[in-house]
Amino acid sequence: MLIYPSYGECCNLKQIVVNGGNRLNGTVHISGAKNAAVAIIPAVILSDGVCRIENIPNIMDVNLIANILHEMGARVSRVNKTTLDIDPTYIRRPVAAYDIVRRMRASSYLLGALLGKFSEAQVALPGGCDFGVRPIDQHLKGFAVLGATHSVVQGMINVKADRLTGGHVYLDVVSVGATVNIMLAAVRAEGRTIIENAAKEPHIVDLANFLNSMGADVRGAGTDVIKINGVKHLNGTTYSIIPDQIEAGTYMVAAAATGGDVIVSNVITKHLESITAKLREIGVQIDEYEDAVRVRRTDELRRCNVKTMPHPGFPTDMQPQIAALLSIAQGTSIVTEAVWDNRFRYVEELKRMGAVISVDGKVAVIEGVKELNGAPVKATDLRAGAAMIIAALAAKGTTHIEDIEHIERGYEDVVEKFSALGADIRLIYTDDPIARRA
Ligand code: EPU
Repeated sequence: MLIYPSYGECCNLKQIVVNGGNRLNGTVHISGAKNAAVAIIPAVILSDGVCRIENIPNIMDVNLIANILHEMGARVSRVNKTTLDIDPTYIRRPVAAYDIVRRMRASSYLLGALLGKFSEAQVALPGGCDFGVRPIDQHLKGFAVLGATHSVVQGMINVKADRLTGGHVYLDVVSVGATVNIMLAAVRAEGRTIIENAAKEPHIVDLANFLNSMGADVRGAGTDVIKINGVKHLNGTTYSIIPDQIEAGTYMVAAAATGGDVIVSNVITKHLESITAKLREIGVQIDEYEDAVRVRRTDELRRCNVKTMPHPGFPTDMQPQIAALLSIAQGTSIVTEAVWDNRFRYVEELKRMGAVISVDGKVAVIEGVKELNGAPVKATDLRAGAAMIIAALAAKGTTHIEDIEHIERGYEDVVEKFSALGADIRLIYTDDPIARRA
């Protein structure tokens, strides 16, 4: 039995409807980081005791991963909206069910966590956002260095080791997922593991801090060399997840796009530096406080060039949102996607709203227009969906956004949060007569 809401049959019938033109105003509170939560919840498997995880975002991806642990036998209980208690000691078999695992990319973290705990794992091949080939060769390379072999049988990846022992892994590409998975597999392995060319994202540091709070010995997270001294046991802990850098960036860009004045609170300003710098270049005023930023637009938006890079570069997960903003900036902007092969599918949707963008491979050339117009559009993936909301808030007229289950995967209470800032935004069911009138 599922204890948290999962994808409903009706998801495709839901839409977000936005009447654009309202300037956003007020304060928005940022939730816990999705990409930290989806690593830390599987990491609980490694513990020999109960873990209390606080500041968990109430979003679909997190509910899915919590459900997976529950299905595997863990005792998962919700203390309140943002806190889960998880007792992994009841997990007996290192197998993750196909029907829910296949929906999310981060289910691959079960491989590292189960391997680290049981020296073997069977997990369905991961799903998640579709923007090109999503290989896991670097994850498997890391497992092999630790002594594990792998095979793929009927859609399941099996990894197994007689004995996990530390080793030296040099990642060929900077990969968040591979860094996480190797850390998970290595914390209880015998001896020392070194990961070179490791990812440096804030959620990597958060995962290391969580593991260390359970008694692990992980050093150097946040730099490109992570050293892990294996320990025999990990204890239960209480841990609070960092705020979501990308959710914060999304509200910052939305404030700018609508000419608003918004305080984005519960953030770590250091994590937002690359976004803040870009927005300032575009002409947006940003004041930084201890755990908040105030975003105001007083001038015209100016063109700029953006190239996505692993942290501390400009995050690929903010690329569609900043492109939506640049589509109404003066002049021609160039956006280069240097992380994923195919992350411009949303451009066709923005063009339906009047944006002038041409894409050649990994480069989008954006000719800024004076205004966008509402249109029926699709959320082609999670961040593309966020870009559609931003464009719709800034546009003239009404926008209907379909396929919003992508947005629900990663943004907590998105309609409520934007409404509280003064947006005219609502969630509808398409068989609702109001939707037909809109
Ligand atoms: N790559 C390989 N081999 C591998 C792994 C990755 O070649 O074994 C390549 C990928 O093809 C890609 C690049 O390395 O070109 C980076 O991939 P990475 O492994 O870093 O991505 P990921 O771990 O699958 C996480 C986030 C994504 C985010 C990327 C990049 C989670 C759950 N997902 O994915 O977040 O785009 O890092 O920062 O942490 C999102 O939140 O919207 C999202 C998609």
